[in-house]
Amino acid sequence: MRVFTGIQPSGDLHIGNYFGSIKQMVEAQKENDTFAFIANYHAMTSVTDGARLAELTMQSATDFLALGIDPQKSTFWVQSDVKEVLELYWILSSYTPTGLLERAHSYKDKTARGAATTHSLFSYPVLMAADILLFSPDIVPVGKDQIQHVEIARDIAVKFNNKYGDILKLPEFKIEEHVATVPGIDGQKMSKSYGNTVNIFGQEKEQLKTIKKIVTENAALEDPKEFAGCNVYNMAKLFLNENELVELQNRYKKGGEGHGHFKVYLADVIWEYFREYREKQEYFKKNQDEVREILTQGANKAREVALPMIDKIRSVTGLKY
Ligand code: ADP
Ligand code: TRP
Repeated sequence: MRVFTGIQPSGDLHIGNYFGSIKQMVEAQKENDTFAFIANYHAMTSVTDGARLAELTMQSATDFLALGIDPQKSTFWVQSDVKEVLELYWILSSYTPTGLLERAHSYKDKTARGAATTHSLFSYPVLMAADILLFSPDIVPVGKDQIQHVEIARDIAVKFNNKYGDILKLPEFKIEEHVATVPGIDGQKMSKSYGNTVNIFGQEKEQLKTIKKIVTENAALEDPKEFAGCNVYNMAKLFLNENELVELQNRYKKGGEGHGHFKVYLADVIWEYFREYREKQEYFKKNQDEVREILTQGANKAREVALPMIDKIRSVTGLKY
């Protein structure tokens, strides 16, 4: 099965990104024909500093490789290295009623929150449709906010196919229902935009400082404590096995330890959990040429799929003469 996803290069990854998406991607590689790309054209809708975009692109590639995207198993590339997608974007634009884009929640939400009303932000779903339709995936795993974009891709594909026959494969989206929303240090959904994240690749001291800020109820040291509903416990749950969880529950129930102790324990657990990934990140940071080479190979692999498709599309739309 071909599983397809795009990732915006948006800076420091947090544990919500890891458990909500990256871990699933890494697991999906085992059994599927996985396609994952860094959506740097999409990021241009919000990142308008060139040096910053280039830096974010390399940082994302480095981090995803460190976290287990395996270029032997997955096709992993940077969007702008397979430029055929821009040609398809333009072609599909003629099969995209503006009304379809005017109804897009993401555009309305972002502009309501102050984003500039640029054409790129408005036409973002057409580029996303081009990303998907160029590679004929079976499944596109997405967060809830992206469902409408996959539906728009289907609508555009139907319009195109009505005209030219069964050329574009209609994508199905998949929501990872079983993936819990990872809480941030304030107990709300962890998100960069809420400033409540615990990052995967932080410095040890910084991480401990962040974890010490986790909001907990006031309780005397000697009192037994509730673990259910505790923000520290809820975060720890993501990292611990059954036995470790029971042990932690017992420490809560017993009393004699404060939330400060549990926080130090949690910081330790997180630090150990990501140790191997940190080492891989260090390796790739020192070997950026290797990262570039992986991306070049990935783009070549992606192009092998994209070229026959764009060729067929050029033919039927009259771009070949
Ligand atoms: P952010 O909200 O920090 O900007 P993104 O929107 O860039 O994060 O999310 C990238 C991926 O990580 C998406 O697939 C999203 O569903 C997942 N994700 C982000 N935050 C969480 C969270 N708190 N819990 C579960 N998954 C999350
Ligand atoms: N819009 C997606 C996001 O913000 C990223 C993305 C771009 C994408 N193109 C895609 C996701 C194609 C899936 C398929 O998260």
